[in-house]
Amino acid sequence: MNISYRADITPYPLIREISKLTRTIPDVIHMEIGDFGKEFKELHKEFIASLLANAAKEGYLNYTENSGLYELRSAIAEYYKKRHGIAVEPENVVITIGAMEGLFLSLLLTLDVGDKILLPNPGYPNYTSQSILVGANPQYYSLDNNFLPNTSDIASKAKESKALIINTPNNPTGVVYSTNVLREIAEIARENNLVVISDETYENIVFEKKHHTMLKFEEIRDNLIVINSFSKSFALTGLRLGFVILPDGLSGVAGKLQENIIASPPAMLQKVAVELIENYREITKKITQKLRKNRDAIIKELHRLPEISYAPPEGAFYIFLNISRYCPSSYAFAETLLKTKRVAVTPGIGFGENGEGYVRISYSCSYNEALEGAKRIVEFLNEGGREIDRKN
Ligand SMILES: Cc1ncc(COP(=O)(O)O)c(C=O)c1O
Repeated sequence: MNISYRADITPYPLIREISKLTRTIPDVIHMEIGDFGKEFKELHKEFIASLLANAAKEGYLNYTENSGLYELRSAIAEYYKKRHGIAVEPENVVITIGAMEGLFLSLLLTLDVGDKILLPNPGYPNYTSQSILVGANPQYYSLDNNFLPNTSDIASKAKESKALIINTPNNPTGVVYSTNVLREIAEIARENNLVVISDETYENIVFEKKHHTMLKFEEIRDNLIVINSFSKSFALTGLRLGFVILPDGLSGVAGKLQENIIASPPAMLQKVAVELIENYREITKKITQKLRKNRDAIIKELHRLPEISYAPPEGAFYIFLNISRYCPSSYAFAETLLKTKRVAVTPGIGFGENGEGYVRISYSCSYNEALEGAKRIVEFLNEGGREIDRKN
């Protein structure tokens, strides 16, 4: 069959390539994927099982409204009041199949074919793929020396762009954006009538810093879509539920789009999500504590090396490690590390050309794996780093 042009040109993320490679190697420590290891599943699997059984018994077995169960949309509105002190109405909330579908819905809702959208480089690669899928024209903005969005670069490209995606806490850097930089972005967006799509999927995974939602900036609420998810903050990537916060009056149109993509999110899972969001404090606290322990163990190991640098790992569950003094190619680095030490990490080039010179270490595995993985990375850098340098 001749597949469509769009299907053909949509890129496949490099992270999947590394995961494919791991299948040929036994006993790999997986630090390449943004998913959770066994210890995290143990935290709440019984709780989820009972919630799911109750939802089925209570009869949550039908389609729901296109925008999702009103009960869940109300619980999310309540969550924004409790978590951020910000007023969101249930009518502004639309339930999606993870942040992925929330993102897709946002792009469909705001972009026409050929419209330019500004994306972070380095950044989550699916922003590019989805922009291409909807026929938009992805353009990129760089990060500054602190791994924050380079607002001068954004300002210089804002006029000719329709939308902008920002992501805090950030994948792949782990950096949490300051209010100052968010305020500057809001200002640029307001001046240029730019739609801001703020991906806050990791909002409850923050350590030393506080997460600030773009919803704080009232002046851009009419041009703002916030994306959120149960995948990361609740360590439930398999629940496949997320949500978007839309400007007033748009949930009907979003519902119309949902009708044609998914009809409605799964009723039973939405009922489970009501309980999760109502208990977000206790659930996310346990997850964050475990992640922090893993992060600290890895950082401690990495500092056995004389010269080491990485983006400030303030949130999400990634360490964006600078490997440029060891090897010019992040792919060659990741491949050699995998083959010689059986540790999988993601090459920075997979997040855009500005990610070259870095690898992303994901630490949502078990504590022992995090520690052992870090030890092997340090060993690798001590022994072989210079070797790869010469080969490339
Ligand atoms: C920044 C970012 N946004 C969105 C997603 C998609 O998440 P979900 O599982 O909710 O679809 C991911 C997943 O890795 C991500 O890292």
